[in-house]
Amino acid sequence: MARATSNGNHMTIPPDIRQRAEAMIAAERDAFAARNPRSAALAAEAGKHFPGGVPLHWMLDWETPFPLFVTSAKGSHVTDADGHVYADFCLGDTGAMFGHSPEPVARAIAAQVAHGMTTMLPSDLTAKVGALLSSRFGLPFWQVTATASDANRAVVRWARALTKRPKVLVFDGCYHGQVEDAFVKLDGDKVVMKTSLLGQVSDLAATSVAAPFNDLTAVEALLAKGDIALILTEPALTNTAMVLPDKGFIEGLMALAKKYGTLICIDETHTISTGHGGYTRAHNLAPDFFVLGKPVAGGLPAAVFGFSAEIEAKMAHVLATKVPGYSGIGTTLSGNMLALAAMRACLEEVMTEAAYAHMTSLAEMLADGLRKAVAGHGLPWSVTQIGARAELVFSPVPLRNGKEAAASMDASVERALHLYLLNRNVLVTPFHNMTLIAPTTTQKDVSHLVKLFDEAMALLCGKGEM
Ligand SMILES: Cc1ncc(COP(=O)(O)O)c(C=O)c1O
Repeated sequence: MARATSNGNHMTIPPDIRQRAEAMIAAERDAFAARNPRSAALAAEAGKHFPGGVPLHWMLDWETPFPLFVTSAKGSHVTDADGHVYADFCLGDTGAMFGHSPEPVARAIAAQVAHGMTTMLPSDLTAKVGALLSSRFGLPFWQVTATASDANRAVVRWARALTKRPKVLVFDGCYHGQVEDAFVKLDGDKVVMKTSLLGQVSDLAATSVAAPFNDLTAVEALLAKGDIALILTEPALTNTAMVLPDKGFIEGLMALAKKYGTLICIDETHTISTGHGGYTRAHNLAPDFFVLGKPVAGGLPAAVFGFSAEIEAKMAHVLATKVPGYSGIGTTLSGNMLALAAMRACLEEVMTEAAYAHMTSLAEMLADGLRKAVAGHGLPWSVTQIGARAELVFSPVPLRNGKEAAASMDASVERALHLYLLNRNVLVTPFHNMTLIAPTTTQKDVSHLVKLFDEAMALLCGKGEM
């Protein structure tokens, strides 16, 4: 996730479009308030004990005057408290990428709940899940955490412990969850801490460096200093207007990491949309670490990190020789048997090749439809796709790094589009223009989304009354 902060795209968002976007936001906020009285009442009630009426403050990022309250979510549809049924292309910002409450996962959870949820011991499912993870993603060893943030944090700590080096390299524009070490960015050539990070007392730029994505020369100059423990990266920058890797960029990173004794972690939490086995498998990569969170247990909180046999041997040595006491890696509920039951069902019966084939073909249909709409209105925008995910980008050409991505984003136009869709029973994530396809998404859902985007673009271009 990442909230659009830029309102400064003057290249491809002319002032008249921004003005219409602001007018659209105002009209759509009024329309939202009028059609959601029950959500308004629930927000007031919940607000007595949850600030803003929400159990997590991010849920206020939707730009609606009060939160939309959900009564149920199934497959790719969500029903709100006022009875509207939405085609969901947000899918919990990927947590529900394989649909809400997929039947096999719901069944596995119900069955497991009757036999215990958490014991701080492995269960009879552990070997099965390990084998599934290994055959699906190619790494021989695994650990389970509660969230992708936890998995990335564990990897960072392990990498420092194994290499005895202090620094972490991330890419400008990245997001890896609640991982302090990734909260740095480039300000010109200088690495600085992101000022949005709350409660940070030491300067993260002392131990984290940021490089521009798709720039192997910059990465090599940083690695050559010999103090970087880990490169933590997504295969594509997905938490901003989406940036795809140049051909050979990720492979080049892996080669540089090897050359300079730095470990590399591929965070596939979003790019698992690429296909069965994620980007890593599609490109035959063999990273030191691999992270997958969010949808891996079908929406139940769980994440995994995988690692090579060489890393496992080093970890065993570190654990055998470390002083007694807390390692700082792991949480009490990590790897509980309920999560493993959900993960088994999800990997085996939901994240299937057939599901990916459907998801990818509909994402192609969506991307084509959006491209036609953009061209029809003569807008200098484009569409990026990575497997089951398609994204409208306010740039005529592919973005190459975080700086270009940030410059392309435009909070007003994004919010206007999101609200327009929301009031017409379609959900897209409130963060940039990501749209995700689930195995249960239909061609009809996609056609409707394209039609609504087309209508909204027409209005933004001054064709028709708001
Ligand atoms: C690439 C990536 N890694 C990690 C995370 C963190 O996931 P979680 O919030 O479930 O811990 C996110 C969340 O958006 C993400 O996009």
